[in-house]
Amino acid sequence: MRAVITGGAGFIGSHLAESLIENGYEVKVIDNLSTGSIKNIEKIKDKPKFEFIKGDIIDLPELNYIISHSDIVFHLAAAVGVELVVKDPAQTIITNVHGTERVLNAAKIKRTKVILTSTSEVYGKSEMNKFSEEDDLLIGPPKHSRWSYACSKLLDEFYCMAFAEEYGIPVTVVRLFNTVGPRQTGKYGMVVPRFVKNAIVNKPLQVYGTGEQSRCFCHVYDTVRALKILGQSDLKNDIFNIGNDYEISIKELALFIIRKLNSSSTIEKISYDEAYSPGFEDMKRRHPDIEKIRKAINWEPMLKLDDIINDVNQHIQETE
Ligand SMILES: NC(=O)c1ccc[n+]([C@@H]2O[C@H](COP(=O)([O-])OP(=O)(O)OC[C@H]3O[C@@H](n4cnc5c(N)ncnc54)[C@H](O)[C@@H]3O)[C@@H](O)[C@H]2O)c1
Repeated sequence: MRAVITGGAGFIGSHLAESLIENGYEVKVIDNLSTGSIKNIEKIKDKPKFEFIKGDIIDLPELNYIISHSDIVFHLAAAVGVELVVKDPAQTIITNVHGTERVLNAAKIKRTKVILTSTSEVYGKSEMNKFSEEDDLLIGPPKHSRWSYACSKLLDEFYCMAFAEEYGIPVTVVRLFNTVGPRQTGKYGMVVPRFVKNAIVNKPLQVYGTGEQSRCFCHVYDTVRALKILGQSDLKNDIFNIGNDYEISIKELALFIIRKLNSSSTIEKISYDEAYSPGFEDMKRRHPDIEKIRKAINWEPMLKLDDIINDVNQHIQETE
């Protein structure tokens, strides 16, 4: 199998690349290194079946050639991270929408299979107990720039379904809920690496808002396993949630990390306005319904929050 991973030098993409190489795939990674890093692919960069192409999916001239000579493309390249999105909503939309359009047009040439990583953010402000794939979606207004990420990813999903129907490309959309693990950077607002890093050096953990908002955290190894099974299966033209369904509030998460790492860090509350921008809207809960993927490919998360914190801690201790 010949696989292309856009965004393969990023956090999730690099774990996927390693795992595919281990399984005997030929892997080509296309990445502009905007939020990714060569360090992430250090272990595999010299393997004979691996190739790294530094380039931007928006204007890489050989994108059509590379994708049309592959069996599958995992399309992960995107503008990611709330801080980055709030700072640069225009670039977020351009990267996510035009990038996906180019990938799909390239996949159209030989009907290359596409796996698109969308996000739980598309569920927006909906207050359902659990989010399932067929739910209606409730996105906030365009004047709040944070919604540009959800909206551009949602348009990507529509693009995928339209190209599947009109041009016969086999596509699978996955909505990733918070995915965490080694190599995730805390630079763009991701909570777990930010908390672990500060807890290690006994600095305060900054909790945004009341801290009552809750999330479910999935280990990147579980996410990669799901991506690989979906890539190998005959399922197509469908959407799946991928996430862990253990829910924890951000305040409890901070306390859990402090206890686990025997840290003397305190908790410091910061308003959303201060952390992001005036009028910033956050979701109270984001809990995946994973019945659909469980039934379809017999997948469920195996690693727990405890494993996640151990692995993130070990990675930070080894690399920083
Ligand atoms: N980590 C999560 O919790 C999470 C949750 C939901 C969805 N996702 C999705 O998963 C995918 C991977 O996210 P991640 O967490 O690994 O983030 P990441 O920032 O580590 O990975 C994104 C990669 O894409 C690259 N990239 C960005 N724009 C590009 C462009 N124009 N051309 C080429 N490369 C480009 C970056 O350099 C980076 O390596 C993204 O599509 C993201 O939307 C992630």
